[in-house]
Amino acid sequence: MAENELAIVILAAGQGTRMRSSTPKVLHRIGGRTLLGHVVRQAESLGSEHVRVVVRHERDRVVESLADFPGVVAVDQDEIPGTGRATQVAVEALPAGFAGDVLVLSGDVPLIEADTFRALLDEHRRRDADATILSAELADPSGYGRVIRDDAGMVARIVEQKDATAEEASVTEINSGVYVFRGPALRDALARVGTDNAQGEMYLTDVMRILRDAGRGVAAISAPDARTALGVNDRVQLADAARILNQRVVRRWQLEGVTILDPQTTWIDDTATLEADVTVLPNTHILGASSVATGAVIGPDTSLVDTEVGAGATVRRSDATLAVIGAHATVGPWAYLRAGAELADSAKAGTFVEIKNSTVGEGSKVPHLSYVGDTTIGVGVNLGAGAITANYDDVAKHRTEIGDHVHSGSHTVFIAPVRIGDGAKTGAGAVIRKDVPAGSLALSVAPQRNIEGWVEKNRAGTAAAEASEHAHDAEKATDVGQE
Ligand code: UD1
Ligand code: CA
Repeated sequence: MAENELAIVILAAGQGTRMRSSTPKVLHRIGGRTLLGHVVRQAESLGSEHVRVVVRHERDRVVESLADFPGVVAVDQDEIPGTGRATQVAVEALPAGFAGDVLVLSGDVPLIEADTFRALLDEHRRRDADATILSAELADPSGYGRVIRDDAGMVARIVEQKDATAEEASVTEINSGVYVFRGPALRDALARVGTDNAQGEMYLTDVMRILRDAGRGVAAISAPDARTALGVNDRVQLADAARILNQRVVRRWQLEGVTILDPQTTWIDDTATLEADVTVLPNTHILGASSVATGAVIGPDTSLVDTEVGAGATVRRSDATLAVIGAHATVGPWAYLRAGAELADSAKAGTFVEIKNSTVGEGSKVPHLSYVGDTTIGVGVNLGAGAITANYDDVAKHRTEIGDHVHSGSHTVFIAPVRIGDGAKTGAGAVIRKDVPAGSLALSVAPQRNIEGWVEKNRAGTAAAEASEHAHDAEKATDVGQE
């Protein structure tokens, strides 16, 4: 087997106690992917044929999360704890006699990108080392293993914080948990790792000292951006990682031609896509598989989840999930588009409007105070303020079908199932229980009747009655004056 072959081992078997979570640590999410998903994605791009993910805690959930990466093989860790044991079971699962390099990554170190892995690998091969550590200089190194160098400046060993003397703990060069090893040297050294340490675990980091004692070369290179070495062990670090990733994603889109006015309050998942000349205003979240086409203006105060936005559309102070917003459509302020809401080109969902599982045809408008559910709306329709589709009768959901160029009067209720023909109109306050044929005007409210003097007679002594008396007196005075 070729010496330059590459295997990648990703450690993901730990519980992550410090997260205090029922979700395994590596399945916590930042930027729309799991921590482990970020690591696996970067690893996959290196083109190795041997990518192994070590699992144990909640192994089924972790394995399931890898469904998008068919090339990746899960390896089970046994009851022996520690990163050393995790690496050992993965190495044992490589093809017999594998003599290439082994890149070891941590499932909880999500921000390091493939370029850095490549640089590490190049340096390792250039120096012909047996192990090369990716280290980082941190102003606050607490919690990390420290890289201890000898008088000549060569890496002597890594010491874990819990096992460190005060002097060792003051070292600011930390182990990022990313390393590359010469396969056979790693296998030999792991066989000699014990559990005689503060945590009673097989430490992968012991391999450095063992290799060094055997006269083998151990090197370290510094991560180009120390912040990417961040390991996620608790929720504070999770938020730190999310923020750093978001800064990276926002910057990437800015350089691709997207105007993002306030990077601090804009959150864009790594999984979303935007085109040049999109504008994103403050307090906006663009999440999941959302996509935004050129010229669209999103925000302020807007959240898009798995939502497609067409060119030139405007979405202001609104919330959309699994929705499709057509080109030049306008949404908000204060609209709520739920799963299956589809606005065709130039359609409008206005203020205090909720739409779900419905299509709104080209140029059609639902401008004010409405609920539209399980509805098909044709083209050129205007639903007056306060339109409600009553789609649920306590047993089943029913559809409302509204043809082209329909105008409904304010406060119309459509009791589904019901159909409104093309060009039809409804009167204000209509309750539509029966189909309306094309071109008809549907009225359901009784003609208005005014019962004169009712208030003065039945509500004598109230402010309303007094106001009414004054009004009548004033009328009489005017009448007299005119006579
Ligand atoms: C580890 C390193 C430390 C380094 C830090 C970088 C060791 C002993 N220490 O410490 O030097 O500075 O990472 O972030 O390696 N895991 C397993 N099986 C296990 C235990 C852990 O697969 O039995 C996995 C975890 O799921 C995790 C990774 O290994 O993804 C690291 O484990 P963790 O317990 O977080 O190690 P740290 O204490 O952070
Ligand atoms: Ca860790």
